[in-house]
Amino acid sequence: MKIVSVVGARPEFIQSAPVSRALRKQHQELLVHTGQHYDYLMSQTFFDELGIPAPDYNLEVGSGSHAGQTAEILVRFEEVLLKEKPDCVIVRGDTNSTLAGALAASKLHIPTVHIEAGERSFDRRMPEEINRLVADRLASAFFCVSQTAVRHLAAEGITKNVYWVGDVMLDANLANRPLARQKSTVLSTLGLAPGSYGLVTVHRAANTDDPARLANIVTALSRVGETVIFPVHPRTRGALSRLNVRFGDNVRLIEPVGYFDMMVLEENARIIATDSGGVQREAYFMSKPCLTLRDETEWSETVEAGWNKLVGVDVATIVREWQTFTPPAEQPPIFGDGHAGEKIAEILGNLSLSITPLTR
Ligand code: UD1
Ligand code: UDP
Repeated sequence: MKIVSVVGARPEFIQSAPVSRALRKQHQELLVHTGQHYDYLMSQTFFDELGIPAPDYNLEVGSGSHAGQTAEILVRFEEVLLKEKPDCVIVRGDTNSTLAGALAASKLHIPTVHIEAGERSFDRRMPEEINRLVADRLASAFFCVSQTAVRHLAAEGITKNVYWVGDVMLDANLANRPLARQKSTVLSTLGLAPGSYGLVTVHRAANTDDPARLANIVTALSRVGETVIFPVHPRTRGALSRLNVRFGDNVRLIEPVGYFDMMVLEENARIIATDSGGVQREAYFMSKPCLTLRDETEWSETVEAGWNKLVGVDVATIVREWQTFTPPAEQPPIFGDGHAGEKIAEILGNLSLSITPLTR
C-alpha cells in the first residue's frame, strides 16, 4: 500500500516515529511535513532524536490564522496528493494539519485514516475539537487510543473500521525512555535533584489568549512553594511578554526542550501541571500526579483513574491541589501495551479502504 502520512506539529512528530517504523516494514510511506511548526526546538530536534525519516515533502506553511494556515496546507497538500496518488492518507490528532490533510484527501477521493480518532472535549470553542470532529466525519478508518474514544465514535454513528490499538505516544515513550536517561543531561544542566520540582507546560489557546486565565496561572505557580520548571511554548512566550504579571523566583522559564530532556524532566518531577494532551498522558505513563489547567479534558480516563485532576485556572485550587493531590496506588492500563504502531500497520495491511458512506 502507498501511504502518505501528514505531520505538522510537535506531538505529531513524536507520534509518527513508532508508526513510520512499523509501516515501513510492509508498506510504502511518504512523510509530508506541513511546516506548521518550524523552529528547531519545535520540529527538527524530534526528527534527530527519534530517528524519524526525513520528510519527503515540507510544505513550509508556517504560522497564520486558522483559516490562513489551513488553507495554505490544503492548497499545497493537494498538489502532493495529485502527484503521488497514494492509496490512503494518515492524519493524526487534532491540529490544523490534521484537518487540512483529511479535507484535501477526501475531496480527491483518497481514503483518510485517523490515528487518535474519537477524542472529544465537547467544547467547540476549542479549535482542536473542530479539527477532530471534521477529521472523524471524513475518515474511513479510525485508530483509537482508548475505549472511551471508541464509545464517542459509536455515539456519533461511526462503528465501521474502528480499532482500539492504544496510544502511539506510549510506544514512543517506552521505546525511548532508556535512551533518554542515557543521553539527557537536563537535570545536571538545570541543577535539579530528582523529585525536587514540579514541571509545567501551557500552550492551549484558551489559556494563552485569555490574559485573565494566563495571569491566574502565573500567580498560582508563583505561590506553590516549590521549584517550577516551565519549558515555554512559543505561543505562550508571546502571550507572557504581553502580560503585566511577573512570575515568582521559584518559577524557572526555559526554552522548549527536546523529547529526551522532556522525558527526563517528566520522569523526575514530583508533580506535573499542564494543559497539553500529550503531557497529561505522559504523566500517566510515568506515574506522576498531574494537574490539568483546563476545565475539561479529552483524557477523562486518567481523571477517573485518580491520577489527573482538572483544576482549571483558579489560583487557590491550583495551589491547594499542587500541595495535596495524591493519586491512588493502582494504575489501570488505559493506553494499551506500547505496540499501537505495529497494530496499526498490520490492520491497515488487511483493510480494504474506500470512501463509501459509513454504516450507521
Ligand atoms: C498547535 C495545535 C495544537 C497542538 C500544538 C502542539 C492547532 C489548531 N493547534 O497549537 O492542537 O496541541 O500545536 O504544540 O493546530 N510558533 C513559533 N514557532 C513554531 C511554531 C509556532 O514561534 O515553530 C508560534 C507562532 O507565533 C504561532 C504560534 O506559536 O502563531 C502558535 O502556533 P500554531 O501551530 O498555530 O498553534 P499551537 O499553539 O502550536
Ligand atoms: N514536549 C517536548 N518538549 C517540550 C514540551 C513538550 O518534547 O518542551 C513533548 C511532550 O513530551 C509531548 C509532546 O511534546 O510528547 C506534547 O506536545 P504539546 O504539548 O505541544 O501538544 P499536545 O500534546 O497538547 O497536542
